[in-house]
Order: sequence, then structure tokens, then C-alpha cells
Amino acid sequence: ATLTVVGVAATASVAGCAADRPTPRVPAASRPLAIPPLAPSTRDAAGRRVVELVAAPGTSRFLPGLTTPTWGYGGLPFGGPTVRARRGEEVVLRVTNRLPETTTTHWHGASLPARADGGPHQPIAPGATWESAWRVDQPAATLWYHPHPHGATERHVHRGLAGMFLVDDDVRVDLPGRYGVDDVPLVLTDRAFAPDGSFDEAHRNAVGLLGDTVLVNGTVAPYLEVTTTRVRLRVLNASPARSYRVALDDEAPLTLVGTDGGLLAAPRTVDGVVLTPGERAEIVVELAPGRRRRLRSVSHDLGTVNGISAAAGADDTVDLLELRPADRLEPSPPVPARLSREAPLDEAAAGRTRTFALAADRINGRDMDPTRVDEVVPASATEVWEFTNRHTLPHNIHVHDARMQVLEPGLAAADRPWKDTVPVPPGTTVRALVRVGPHTDPEVPYMLHCHLLRHEDDGMMLQFLVVGPGQRPATRLAVPSGA
Ligand code: C2O
Ligand code: CU
Repeated sequence: ATLTVVGVAATASVAGCAADRPTPRVPAASRPLAIPPLAPSTRDAAGRRVVELVAAPGTSRFLPGLTTPTWGYGGLPFGGPTVRARRGEEVVLRVTNRLPETTTTHWHGASLPARADGGPHQPIAPGATWESAWRVDQPAATLWYHPHPHGATERHVHRGLAGMFLVDDDVRVDLPGRYGVDDVPLVLTDRAFAPDGSFDEAHRNAVGLLGDTVLVNGTVAPYLEVTTTRVRLRVLNASPARSYRVALDDEAPLTLVGTDGGLLAAPRTVDGVVLTPGERAEIVVELAPGRRRRLRSVSHDLGTVNGISAAAGADDTVDLLELRPADRLEPSPPVPARLSREAPLDEAAAGRTRTFALAADRINGRDMDPTRVDEVVPASATEVWEFTNRHTLPHNIHVHDARMQVLEPGLAAADRPWKDTVPVPPGTTVRALVRVGPHTDPEVPYMLHCHLLRHEDDGMMLQFLVVGPGQRPATRLAVPSGA
């Protein structure tokens, strides 16, 4: 199966291994889409928003007649509740590990102190509780959370640990915003099943674990009943390896309003949105009364950056979600012509340029070493980071704590989407403006890695410290030891 090289084809890869024991079929669009509940929160005496999350094993039913052992957060057997917080608020996230092994919980896309990041340096032993606290200070965005224990991230995420983390702010933008009604999270994952119903963790290829069944918020073959003329979909690719090109069945235009780091300056009409693992997109779909539409992933070549692809392919199409508008729809306001007013990063003011060569399981020829400092980055400075993929496999790059904007010829600075995870297709160089900070710590690093989780686990990850003026960075880091 050579198609597997790309890790994007919807039906390829693992299907070969599973041919002798076909997955029981669930009729298309036959199940109501599960909406992850909002995580309950309380206020402590200091006015901080406190969220408690327990990571624990559970049992799920995805396929007729079969049960699947899974892991989940917050009492869900699979996935996790949606955490929601407001800019300006102090949050305290307490994660208790009831799994049989050490895990971590990383707040992907959050601007936060390195000690609160939940990467490999903040392990949570079985039975322990880890507390992560910071003041939320970033524009409204669709973030997410997932495990990040070095060497085991793919397995922990694949068993089901992933949830959304929505940041709200006080900027008034008239987009659909009723959670679960016209503002709907879509967590995309793919899985292959063993004959006994368990997730197949054995059949992998060079990009990692690829499944033949797509789960949206843990639902196989979902539909969503819609009651408004517009619906905002917050799409997260939480898959270990698969990329999607999200489009409507007839390639009708979608309105892209946001990416990883928040809203675009202005809505953009696209015919599809490519999401590699870890990336998010907020799209608005317009619906006519009673007219069902299918959201699909269609084949694509990863030949574009910023998650926007112009080319459509015909094969390897997989249904993601059927949208079922009611016969009478409540009118939604039109999508505003202006969304984010945040100033773009300034290329002219960029300090140094850093280069990162991606090859098999290595970045700049290095394997992940938790004690090594790979880069020291000044807080709140804008830099140019250049990622070159010299490999035949697709990779992407996620930078913790970062706001990134990919430099793309022909795209005005104001129109560059805010990113924290960027695709780097084979044979290409992606140049991005990057800003980390304001949090500094001379001893605890953030991570930079491929978000194809198998590659990350295999060592395709570097560490950087963020320091302020006069702060002396450590030259060697402590081996992680945690709660
Ligand atoms: Cu979503 Cu370092 O990970
Ligand atoms: Cu990779």
C-alpha cells in the first residue's frame, strides 16, 4: 500500500490488513452527533476558575454488537468535555490520573508558563493530581488538550484522550455562538478496529496509526440537526496521523472564519480546508431549509499551506457529517466582513531566523533529548522560523506557546491566519513568523515537534527555553519528574 506514504488517503492503508475481517458497517448518517459536554467549573476564593479533570479508562460502543476499551477525560469513556475560559481569567486545571500508567495533559495552543504547559516535563503518575494554573491572555480561539508523555503520546491519544478548549474574549463579533446549537465542535479522529471491538494498535505504517473508520466527537456515521440558517463548525483534527480536506459534498463554498490561533481578519470563501493532525479550523456553513448537506473529506495533496487548498480530488472521499436543516430555520446574521482586529506579526521587525530541517524522525539531525536545550528564544520577540522537509513523508510542525503566521507569497500580512501547527509537505520549505512569550522560564522548556504522533514519539521533537532580558538559560535540563 504505497498510498499510506501520504497518510491522507481516506480508505487506504490499514484497510489492507483488515480485509479478511471487515469492520461491521454502520449505515451512513444514522446516528446523532454526540456533543461533548462543557466541563463544569467552580470559582475558588481568589476568583479563579477551577476545572477538575480525571483521566480514566472506560468502555465505548462504536460498532454494533461490540464494545471497545477506551480512555477518556471528565467521566467520558472516550474524548473529553469542552473546557471554556475567558481572556483575563485565571484558570486552575486539576488533572487526576486514574490510568494504569504515567500521562501528561498538554493545553495545545495556549499561551502559558512552561510549567503549566503539560508537555513531557510535567508527568502525572498513576493516582496523582497535577495542577496547572495561568492567566488566560490570548484572543478567542479553538484550542484543545491531550496527553504528551514522551514516547507514548500516540497510544494515549489513540485510546481516546482529547478534548476541546475554547477561549472567549470580549471582542464583539457576530458569529453563531450557541454551543451545541449553532456553534458546534467537531473532533475528527480515525480508528481501525480489531475483531473483538478493541482499537487496532498494531497496524501502523510510516506515518503512524491510520484507521478506516472516522469518529466525529466519538460518533460513527453522525448527523446533526440544524435549526438556524448558518452553523459555525469548530473542526479539530485529533487524529494521530491522518489529514483531512474538509469540504461540502458538492464543493459548495465554505466560509473560513478562524484557524488555530483565532479568527481571521476577514472571512474567506474556500472550497475546502486541509487539516493535518493538531490543526483547527472554524467554518461557517450556510443552509437552506430541509436541504441536507454532507461534510466530507476528499483527497488532497497537502500542496498548500495555511490549511487552505484550492485543488479538489475525486477519490478517497469519506463522509464526516450530515447536516440536517429543519424545514423552518431561524435566521442567523450574515458573517461580519471584519473579524479579528489583532495586528499581524511584523516581518520587517523580525529578529533572527532559525532553520529546522525535518528528516526521518529527526529535526536538525537531532533526536529528542529531555535534558538538552536546543534553542533559547527571547520572549515576545518576532522571529522567522524556516522548516524544510527533506523527506518523502509529510510532516507538520507544532510550536508550543507560539503565535505563528506563515509567510505566503501573494498573501497580505493582515490576511495571514494565526497558526500553532503548520503542514510541511515533502520537498517544501515553510517560512513562518513566530512569537513566543511573554512567559519566561530559564529551566523549563517548551516543545517543537511533528504532530504526526508516531514521529513525535520516535523523537522528532526539540526543546526551547523562553527567556527575558538578563535571564540566564540553563545549559542542561532536569529529567522530568512530576506529580
Ligand atoms: Cu498537540 Cu506538543 O502537542
Ligand atoms: Cu512527521
